[in-house]
Amino acid sequence: MSVPSIPLNSGTSIPQMGLGTWPLDDAEAAATVVLAAEAGYRHIDTATRYGNEAGVAEGIRRSGIAREDFFVTTKLDGAFQGGDLAIAGLRAALERMAFDYVDLLLIHWPLPQRDDYVSTWRTFEELYDDGRARAIGVSNFKVAHLEKLAAETGVVPAVNQIELSPAIPRMEQRAYHEAHGIVTESWSPLGGSGTGALNPSAVQQIASRLERTPAQVVLRWHVQQGLVAIPKSTDPTRLAQNLDVFSFELSPDDFAAMATLSGGPNAGVDSDRSGH
Ligand code: A2P
Repeated sequence: MSVPSIPLNSGTSIPQMGLGTWPLDDAEAAATVVLAAEAGYRHIDTATRYGNEAGVAEGIRRSGIAREDFFVTTKLDGAFQGGDLAIAGLRAALERMAFDYVDLLLIHWPLPQRDDYVSTWRTFEELYDDGRARAIGVSNFKVAHLEKLAAETGVVPAVNQIELSPAIPRMEQRAYHEAHGIVTESWSPLGGSGTGALNPSAVQQIASRLERTPAQVVLRWHVQQGLVAIPKSTDPTRLAQNLDVFSFELSPDDFAAMATLSGGPNAGVDSDRSGH
């Protein structure tokens, strides 16, 4: 299974389909990463807050595939925001993983009420310069947070990883990303643990016409728009199915049908109020 990669402003590139690992513990993450690697995944998404970085790295080692063939993302939560706390945060994450670097380091949430994300980002720039993070980005940032970063710092985030699915299309954020060369990464691309994105009849009808599963239709919706998606599954059949979305196409009518599923501009988690 060949998965396209998308160039990042760091000069590296990110495989368009990756494995989400929340809420797996270390043992589950290790086992799932081995299965995912066998299925063809080379992009794994974790976070310090998930508590499974060590398990993800263990799975990569157990897979027998070289570390440098994987694209590994981790994220630092609020405990590592402010001043240079991210230096210690990344050091501890790398020790847990026994890796020299991560491919992508993200600020997990903006926490705007704390107002520490600008100083955190300056520290991320240092971590990028010294090579411990090969690309740096953010997660759950709204346009106002991105504008503040742009006004006060010098490096544009390579990625903004946001909750995104047909019901939560985040059009305003995506337009900003496109204008500034930021790659959009979709978390909960299938709608999360309730997999709400798979149920609508529009998705079911497209799936039966194309002889694909609803999950494949939804993931195709992501990748055909140039989004990176990180669906989570522990099931080998689903892992393989979720990666197999690069050999069919949705039509303009399919996109129009799926646009009716949008919950509008304010759907989804509000990172001015939520985060950790
Ligand atoms: P499971 O791990 O049992 O496969 P998201 O990535 O949007 O957060 O969604 C994750 C949820 O979607 C998990 O509950 C996962 O369950 C389920 N899931 C993942 N892939 C598929 C699939 N191909 N079909 C149905 N459900 C899926």
